[in-house]
Amino acid sequence: MKMVFLALLSLHSAAAVTHSLKYFYTGSSQVPNFPEYVVVGLLDDVQMDICDSNIKRAEPKQDWMKKITEDDPQYWKRQTEICFSVQPVFKANIETAKQRFNQTGGVHIVQGMLGCEWDDETGEINGFNQQGYDGEDFIVFDLKTGTWIAPKQQAVITKLKWDENKARIAQLKNYLTQECPCWLQKYLNYGRSALMRTELPSVSLLQKTPSSPVSCFATGFYPNRVMMFWRKDGEEHHENVERGEILLNHDGSFQTSADLNVSSVATEDWRRYECVFQLSGVKDDIITKLNETAIQTNWGKTVNRGSSGFPVGNVMGGVVVLLLLVVGIAGYFLWRMTSNGER
Ligand SMILES: *[C@@H]1O[C@H](CO)[C@@H](O)[C@H](O)[C@H]1NC(C)=O
Ligand SMILES: *[C@@H]1O[C@H](CO)[C@@H](O)[C@H](O)[C@H]1NC(C)=O
Ligand SMILES: *[C@@H]1O[C@H](CO)[C@@H](O)[C@H](O)[C@H]1NC(C)=O
Repeated sequence: MKMVFLALLSLHSAAAVTHSLKYFYTGSSQVPNFPEYVVVGLLDDVQMDICDSNIKRAEPKQDWMKKITEDDPQYWKRQTEICFSVQPVFKANIETAKQRFNQTGGVHIVQGMLGCEWDDETGEINGFNQQGYDGEDFIVFDLKTGTWIAPKQQAVITKLKWDENKARIAQLKNYLTQECPCWLQKYLNYGRSALMRTELPSVSLLQKTPSSPVSCFATGFYPNRVMMFWRKDGEEHHENVERGEILLNHDGSFQTSADLNVSSVATEDWRRYECVFQLSGVKDDIITKLNETAIQTNWGKTVNRGSSGFPVGNVMGGVVVLLLLVVGIAGYFLWRMTSNGER
């Protein structure tokens, strides 16, 4: 417990935020060129480690995670054991799910997510554990009631079986509310300087065709706690605005966009609009006025950029997000939690 309190104290100086530790696990059958079993650990949505049936071990994905062996030389050996002790459960779960859905063969994927969140200001803790099959929710743990929810008819048998297993539920609750937050804080201590940094983005105005919306595009920021919106005459303006998702760039920074449909905005009114980017913990907003001459286009109106149109970051982010979705949803947890967790 001492560890936890130390972490609490030292983290206090940073901006108050919710931190998270999530494990995504994926068990697949007959997916070409994809490991049968993959586990990915994310700290504050940054991938910190991986374990899969191709590399056959757990290994760090961040330099700061390598430091853990200085205090705990057996760490990666232990993680590898834990990781692969869960693999048979996933194999069995795919077979069970196939039966429930009357399937005989083909490509199938079981995904799971396990993790916790911790608010470093209020100390509030939240935990989650859920599993999906072939891209849809299969069974979800409700931490508040300590019961399983079956969004699918085919999962009702599993729900009833798992609800009966009070010992396993107690272990899961303990993991989600005690052990997971404790590890979360421990990992945060290792990754502090990397995870507590702030990086401002470059913000540009982009337009694909003369009739397209004007996209206010920010890339290269960190962390991903941002607000981006348009203002008209100094007031927040949400009409004809489409907010983009926050996507991960390959270098670990993020990108996002807010598209303003300008088709009904008279040219003389353009100067009344501006795009606002706010990064959590940073006082000054980045404000970009809607200015026709500053817009970077695909049809060669301006030349202050490469000829390829949208920045590379845009494409890269898409690729990374896709990979995360495919690799996604994995996570090893304590062997004892799943050792009796077959469906
Ligand atoms: C699977 O087959 C059984 C028996 O033929 C049938 O009762 C059940 O409804 C089928 N389930 C699905 C999901 O098709
Ligand atoms: C932009 O607004 C116009 C007029 O309101 C509408 O016809 C058009 O479909 C919109 N374009 C997009 C990309 O939403
Ligand atoms: C619009 O952008 C151009 C080119 O970047 C700049 O020279 C000009 O000062 C800007 N005008 C306004 C009103 O910001």
